[in-house]
Amino acid sequence: MMDLFSFDQPQRLAIAEGAMLLGGRALRHEEALLAALDTVVAAAPFRHMVTPGGFTMSVAMSNCGRVGWVTDKGGYRYTSEDPQTGQPWPEMPAVFAALASEVAEEAGFQGFEPDACLINRYEPGAKMSLHQDKDERDFSNPIVSVSLGLPATFQFGGLSRSDKPRKLPLQHGDVMVWGGPARLAFHGILPLKEGQHARLGRNRINLTFRKA
Ligand code: SIN
Ligand code: FE2
Repeated sequence: MMDLFSFDQPQRLAIAEGAMLLGGRALRHEEALLAALDTVVAAAPFRHMVTPGGFTMSVAMSNCGRVGWVTDKGGYRYTSEDPQTGQPWPEMPAVFAALASEVAEEAGFQGFEPDACLINRYEPGAKMSLHQDKDERDFSNPIVSVSLGLPATFQFGGLSRSDKPRKLPLQHGDVMVWGGPARLAFHGILPLKEGQHARLGRNRINLTFRKA
């Protein structure tokens, strides 16, 4: 079989029409991102949310930005307040917003101004089943997804759940962008392997930027 991937530049991997992996792209902002992350989760602590079907998610979540993504027995949605504290979600740190819009532009999506950043924390064993991001109002904006901490295997599929996903290793500092014809691609994270990361210990952190 032919190689399905093509490097269009060092560190930039075209995954599908509209989908790109920018290897190590967040590393130059490592210190600022980690400091900002600490500030956000001090105000809006990680918690394990419950799916509409009643399952507690293995991934712990928080949010920052004008709105945040939540799930509970009532369904999936965006809220302007953190249901746990009753306070507005913490503001999106400038370094988060700037990185997301710069990387979106590098991947071919101009003018991306995210108003929501979902923060996912995986400990070994945690996973995210294949799903589409489709709780947003319009799909003209891309998804920008930053990986920090322990490595993980990202599954990136097609527009149908039955499309066989390809497996992409994601490392600390990698950024995935998908939009346009790939905006509704199914994606997920395989169960995180045991490990220790120099900066984040036994954790993987994912920042998912969206325009809600
Ligand atoms: C997600 O799809 O919400 C998370 C993806 C990731 O953790 O990389
Ligand atoms: Fe997602």
